[in-house]
Amino acid sequence: MADDKEVIEALANEKRLFEPSLEFVKKANTASSALYEEAARDHEGFWARQARELVSWFTPWDRILDWNLPFAKWFVGGRLNISYNCLDRHVESGHGDRVAIHWEGEPGDKRTITYFELLDQVKRFANVLRDLGVSEGDRVNIYLPMIPEAAVAMLACTRIGAAHSVVFGGFSSQALADRINDASAKVLVTADGGWRRGEVFPLKSQADEALENTPSIEKVVVVRRGGNDVSMKPGRDHWYHELMEEASSDCPPTPLDSEHLMFLLYTSGTTGKPKGIMHTTGGYLTHVTYTFKYVFDIKPETDVFWCSADVGWVTGHSYIVYGPLANGATQVMYEGVPNYPGNDRFWEIIERYKVTIFYTAPTAIRTFMKWGSEEPAKHDLTSLRMIGSVGEPINPEAWMWYREHIGGNQCPIIDTWWQTETGGVMISPLPGVTATKPGSATFPIPGVAAELVDDAGKRVERGGGYLTLTKPWPGMLRGIWGDQKRYQETYWSRFAGRYFAGDGAKLDDDGYLWLLGRVDDVMNVSGHRISTTEVESALVSHPNVAESAVVGANDATTGQAIVAFVTLRGGSNVSEKDLRDHVAKEIGPIAKPKTIYFTPDLPKTRSGKIMRRLLRDVAEGRNLGDTTTLADASVVDELRKKATAAPNED
Ligand code: PRX
Repeated sequence: MADDKEVIEALANEKRLFEPSLEFVKKANTASSALYEEAARDHEGFWARQARELVSWFTPWDRILDWNLPFAKWFVGGRLNISYNCLDRHVESGHGDRVAIHWEGEPGDKRTITYFELLDQVKRFANVLRDLGVSEGDRVNIYLPMIPEAAVAMLACTRIGAAHSVVFGGFSSQALADRINDASAKVLVTADGGWRRGEVFPLKSQADEALENTPSIEKVVVVRRGGNDVSMKPGRDHWYHELMEEASSDCPPTPLDSEHLMFLLYTSGTTGKPKGIMHTTGGYLTHVTYTFKYVFDIKPETDVFWCSADVGWVTGHSYIVYGPLANGATQVMYEGVPNYPGNDRFWEIIERYKVTIFYTAPTAIRTFMKWGSEEPAKHDLTSLRMIGSVGEPINPEAWMWYREHIGGNQCPIIDTWWQTETGGVMISPLPGVTATKPGSATFPIPGVAAELVDDAGKRVERGGGYLTLTKPWPGMLRGIWGDQKRYQETYWSRFAGRYFAGDGAKLDDDGYLWLLGRVDDVMNVSGHRISTTEVESALVSHPNVAESAVVGANDATTGQAIVAFVTLRGGSNVSEKDLRDHVAKEIGPIAKPKTIYFTPDLPKTRSGKIMRRLLRDVAEGRNLGDTTTLADASVVDELRKKATAAPNED
């Protein structure tokens, strides 16, 4: 990061500035600096106003904030229900007929779901969960493709005060089992399978494997989507459509304490064990509703929003399910990949539904660039009025391509920085206010306080540093499920009194923030967070592997690519493909190393520490600097020779 001079210098030379157009400003939900000023004057009062105006409460709170660093309680004593905020209140105010979700399956099948219909399904499924024995405070695991039932299941949990734990459908059975067990979930909601790249991928069979080792699960609900064969265990497994048919649609929303646990979402840290990030009810909802209104500038009456993320990630939680629905917006939800049946599927969808706001990841944008600007040019994208990016640093070139070929040179771009832990957007332009620079996430949004610090924790006013957050915010994580010590150590111990995000960033002469990526052992591959240790543990769990070291190497499309260095057990042999498949089985296909180097030894310091920096240099083909601290320098020579040979990949 901070020492990555080339990147910093290249970014520092970025002088282009794009002001929002007059036309955009005229209609923007906020077009002045008033929100920034209000938040700077009275941080808590500012958030309290958002909570009061944007969220419906059954019981008002007594105190805005209890802050006992690092533990926050927001809107203390208040009671509310999230599904009520996302559904009932829109139906009650006469918007039941508004489309909540235009859903499109990968094969081309379509469903249109109004707010009224979504509410009806959520109430039924809430009753289904209750009938299966789920009560307030229980955890429900969700392992589904991108189908509306995912949103129904999540909202149904919030209706009765159960916490959901959604596991991305691309994760392996082992990863699912680990997450179920950590959360002690009672019920699993899954599907037979889903569509991806023109084929059905099985989910239930993966779930079945996981369920062999998940004693807490009592019942399984299976949505029929793929139509593939599944085995159903009598007494335990039930079809979603059968239960829904019988379920009552009478289910009043349960008033829940503002600090009631709303969901767990597992994310990679620097150790092998994923962390169950805890989010609670009132603060999270306030944060996502507020950001969706002002950062995404939503006009519920006229906009059609589309976020191309998966509900299995935090982006899907905050900006497919809760932010859009709490605002009463209409959105598109798409099941499959961007290149089925052709490379223009996304642009076809934007044209079909007249999408006005599109939100995707830099990896996707770089892939679209590779496919060529003729793909979007085949479609009318003039409905778009704003476009956004999330998940990784966006390089200026991709930003400019996105602006020109998707945004038609007239849409503001919001590059939004945030994390699973922050719940919602933290650093981003306000599209009607901020002049943007290609590749910069610009400034903390009103209500968020961010500062860079150096190694010693001293504030950095210009140049590179570690990104920290200095004030509590409503959407902040409330801890790590079952491990509050780890919460404190991971986020709050590196710099006294500050939340350390794990990212490096740079402040330019105009005070703009440029995110530079992770500074810890967390990789960011196609916008997905994967820890090096997690992949290393998966590799060494293979019987033939003695030792491994994993690094993230820069990759022009995926941001980072996973590169593994592996030492095999004496006399044994295993192919790269087998090892990749093994990692896919342990974690999921997203964690498969792109390149594996076999080496008789790993470069280590004399005290036995693996020299990752050196391995990164090897992986990225850089000249190696100082290797004098190495215990055995010949190891590196060998590796360097291998790295100059063409890397293999599936
Ligand atoms: O490194 C940052 C990167 O993604 C990390 C958070 O990952 P996750 O919890 O999976 O959430 C991703 C979606 C919110 C951050 O620590 N990141 C996210 N957004 C950006 C980003 N890096 C640069 N620019 C962004 N806009």
